[in-house]
Amino acid sequence: MTIGNENDLDRLKEIGAIVARVLHAMGEALRPGVTTGELDLLGRRMLDAAGAVSAPEKIYGFPGATCISVNEEIAHGIPGERVIRAGDLVNIDVSAEKDGYFADTGASFPVGNVPPRIHRLCRDGKRALWTGIKQVRAGNPLGGIGVAIGDFAHRNRYTLVCNLASHGVGRSLHEEPAHIPTWPDRSERRRIGDGLVFTIEPFLSLGADWAVDSGRDQWTLLSEPSAPTVQYEHTMVATPRGAVVVTQLA
Ligand code: CO
Ligand code: CO
Repeated sequence: MTIGNENDLDRLKEIGAIVARVLHAMGEALRPGVTTGELDLLGRRMLDAAGAVSAPEKIYGFPGATCISVNEEIAHGIPGERVIRAGDLVNIDVSAEKDGYFADTGASFPVGNVPPRIHRLCRDGKRALWTGIKQVRAGNPLGGIGVAIGDFAHRNRYTLVCNLASHGVGRSLHEEPAHIPTWPDRSERRRIGDGLVFTIEPFLSLGADWAVDSGRDQWTLLSEPSAPTVQYEHTMVATPRGAVVVTQLA
């Protein structure tokens, strides 16, 4: 969507703050022994209490309120019986709707003791996201986001998953502009419109180039080649002065 008035912006900020709080609380509840289903229930209850509903469940019939992807899973993991263990790398993606407005956020969390390279990957995954956000300004080329993130990844010897794109959001979970690349893509010629609402969500990896179907279910995606991968995602509004990020914790 493109923000048309103050009410649009206020409603978007409201749902943005809700998904930010849910993501933070689920991250805080992550510890060895908890199941992904228990974490999801926490998220569902918080959304419910805030008057919001899960976007993937509402829009796509996803079997959970949130997506929880563990280790070899990198996206769209289904919450359930899986028990979190020390050393796991867990991605939580929370998107939801309230009063017809949608916001989308995600983050990866190391559980317990993990090797230094995983801590670095998490730190740099956030830096990759913010490298993209700094390219946002009304009128700028949309492709500048992926070029900047690609430079960052290359300089720091990471790979990027090049088939999980960012997207417009606001009045639904996935809208135009679809398939916003977070990697260099010379065919990307679109520009960032004033007031445009969209996500940036690079998947930074220690070796993976692609997300592939797991074959376990209709949803879960794995890294290919298999390697530790993180995703950090914000929803933002483009303005002439830069991005207004609506999914940051207040
Ligand atoms: Co998301
Ligand atoms: Co998204």
